[in-house]
Amino acid sequence: MRLQKYIARSGLTSRRKAEELILQGRVEVDGQVVKELGTKVGMDNLVKVDGKIIRVEEVKRYIALNKPRGYVTTLDDEFSREIVVDLIKDVEERVYPVGRLDLDTEGLLILTNDGDLTFKLTHPSFEIEKTYIALVNGIPNENELESFRQGLLIEGKMTYPAKVKLLKTHGKNAELEVKIHEGRNRQVRKMCDAINHSVISLKRVQFGPIKLGKLALGEYRYLTKDEIEELKR
Ligand code: URA
Repeated sequence: MRLQKYIARSGLTSRRKAEELILQGRVEVDGQVVKELGTKVGMDNLVKVDGKIIRVEEVKRYIALNKPRGYVTTLDDEFSREIVVDLIKDVEERVYPVGRLDLDTEGLLILTNDGDLTFKLTHPSFEIEKTYIALVNGIPNENELESFRQGLLIEGKMTYPAKVKLLKTHGKNAELEVKIHEGRNRQVRKMCDAINHSVISLKRVQFGPIKLGKLALGEYRYLTKDEIEELKR
């Protein structure tokens, strides 16, 4: 944000007075006196007024994004692929994805700058349930779905019991609703592989209490107060 806004946000003084302080050469950013009013600063900068450090309490942001395919959830990518945080425009705070979604998976991704909440939501012991819609090759029979529910051996380790429902069929393929509360790498894809019905496309539609709803691909919205409270609960 602009330096004068940063100073005003710290509670030290008004924005107009902050402008005067800057013009008077009383403001330093990272050890350098700054006299230009428009200078941009962020949480990574150290701002001093008359030699005293001032701090701004960062507003906590909670965002739901409909991640398109082809975007990675890491913060930079060694192969220069598109990254999800670049879809978040007009948000001053730097927000980070809560957990991961594969490159080819679309759907609900929560982003926030609330590190405590991210830690809890991604920690296996909290067992947040995530719901996916998977279009799979072939039509799984009841036995196969039952083994899905009981747990499957993936890379030498059993998955926890999952919930699965056959929603509909599309010709020779089927649409499944899958609910898991683990976060193993490519877990839904590997579970579907394990019953010999590989995933054609995968979309996350719910994360704990938060639903994807009607967000278009690539679009995002702020979570409501109630949603944030439910998520924390
Ligand atoms: N399971 C997967 O296979 N991929 C995801 O992105 C999330 C869950």
